[in-house]
Amino acid sequence: MSIRVLVADNVSPKGVALLEETEGFDVTFKTGMTPPELAEVIGDYDALIVRSATKVTPDILEHAKKLRAIGRAGTGVDNIDLPAASNAGVVVMNTPGGNSVAAAEHTIALMTALARNVSQANADLRAGQWERKKYVGIEIEGKTLGVIGLGRIGREVARRGRGLRMEVLGYDPFVSGDGMDSLGIDVVTLDELLAKSDFVTIHVPKTDDTKNLINAEAIAKMKKGARVINCARGGLLDEGAVFDALESGQLSGCGLDVFDAEPPTDRRLVEHPAVVATPHLGASTVEAQVRVGVEIAQKIRDYLQSGVILDAVNFPSMDRETHAAMSPVMELGERLGSLLGQICSGGMKRLEVRSYGTFGEYPIKPVAMAASKGLLQPVVHGAVSYVNSIALAQSRGVTIEEGRSNENTDYSGLLRLTLTTDESTTTVAGTVLTGNYPRLVEVDGTPIESSLDGHLLFIRNRDVPGVIGGIGSILGDTGVNIAGLQLGRVTGDEAAISIIAVDSPVPADALSRIEQLPEVLSVTTVSIP
Ligand code: NAD
Ligand code: MLT
Repeated sequence: MSIRVLVADNVSPKGVALLEETEGFDVTFKTGMTPPELAEVIGDYDALIVRSATKVTPDILEHAKKLRAIGRAGTGVDNIDLPAASNAGVVVMNTPGGNSVAAAEHTIALMTALARNVSQANADLRAGQWERKKYVGIEIEGKTLGVIGLGRIGREVARRGRGLRMEVLGYDPFVSGDGMDSLGIDVVTLDELLAKSDFVTIHVPKTDDTKNLINAEAIAKMKKGARVINCARGGLLDEGAVFDALESGQLSGCGLDVFDAEPPTDRRLVEHPAVVATPHLGASTVEAQVRVGVEIAQKIRDYLQSGVILDAVNFPSMDRETHAAMSPVMELGERLGSLLGQICSGGMKRLEVRSYGTFGEYPIKPVAMAASKGLLQPVVHGAVSYVNSIALAQSRGVTIEEGRSNENTDYSGLLRLTLTTDESTTTVAGTVLTGNYPRLVEVDGTPIESSLDGHLLFIRNRDVPGVIGGIGSILGDTGVNIAGLQLGRVTGDEAAISIIAVDSPVPADALSRIEQLPEVLSVTTVSIP
């Protein structure tokens, strides 16, 4: 069956073509759908690619029963309900950086247009007027540019400000001053930036904390006659407060690429003579659109084809090399988690995921996500994926703890999972053999080696002669072929563990006959996909 991808916004044809040319992919390119139209069709798709026009709401996700990934051809993901996507197990990927230069250059375009009244003068000239006195501007050189948010775009803007011979002040509570000196950015407090800047430009994500960052109070702290630019997100500027400040002369200009509502419903700002406004064009360059379109198509293809997750906003970020090195350990974690989920009984309370030796060189969080996925998959109704597994576990009252240990083991890399339920605590450990084969090597401290796939019988038995013979003849009677047999015993202990790999599921009546053998303490069927 083909993998179905819906491209719902205007993504570069080169990105769409990349997916269309990928074998096994079936791509639908349909833009401009209303929310009900999207809700009606989304159930047929494995992946959705959007820019900022399509809003991926909890209601859309509710209908997206097959959806595994959402690709955002761009930076901001505020049009996607991330908690709802994560809960639904949908990976959300974007293309951070792919349009940073475009957005930074557009910011500079708005700043220079504001300084020289370019768009107002252009409009007058088109209307037949020749206004030279009316449009006397200001020079940019020597002015102070205040950059709020020193991430990818903020830094590109700062660099360009320096190139225009401006003084550049920066404010970002999450970035240290180190490294900013070399960019010529003087890192200051927000109040100092507001008080000293001739141009204030915002480059932060829109969150509950940054909403209305530039409000009446912030504007009152600015230099009289300052100019503000928002090329980041609508809602970062309080549009009403900016309008009042333009009217009073506290602000002498405003450059806007983004709005509270897009297209703007309140027209007062876009029609104000001191405003230069564009319809969300920050990323709209040929180069940026090809870059983000192709990049998101590659990420969606790689994830759907081989599980590679790059730049996901709801999954720990990994580069390709780390992903290649980690995926066998994640696979091991998932299989050990699945084994634990099936051999333990009682309400789950706590899962501990610990890496040893070389496995400790990689981030442990993705491994914990994989282990939680394996643990929950056999017991939870509905889709469990890497992105929702920890949240799902926590919603069921399971605490997930992860860490690394320096303790030496017999293996160059070892992963140990301990599950505590209200009935018992069970530990399993595994390693990855050459060729990337996940292998169980220990249960409850007892060395026992087993493959971690297919159908297994997990048996706790008394360490006495004849156990395997009894089980073998019951399986033989029911036509179940034994593919492998592993025994684990601790010297001096009365109990032992046996793991029998079988070629087909063991029928219930055979299982109950095994359970009744006097040497058998417990038997569980395990199936690891
Ligand atoms: P980024 O994540 O690289 O940088 C954002 C920075 O904001 C970070 O350094 C963060 O520490 C900082 N920040 C967060 N909260 C802050 C606060 N309260 N005060 C000051 N700094 C704060 O993001 P980016 O790629 O630089 O994008 C910046 C913005 O531009 C985003 O809102 C993005 O959606 C928007 N954007 C718009 C367009 C467009 O077409 N107009 C194009 C691309 C990106
Ligand atoms: C972004 O966040 O990348 C921008 O808003 C660009 C866009 O989608 O046009």
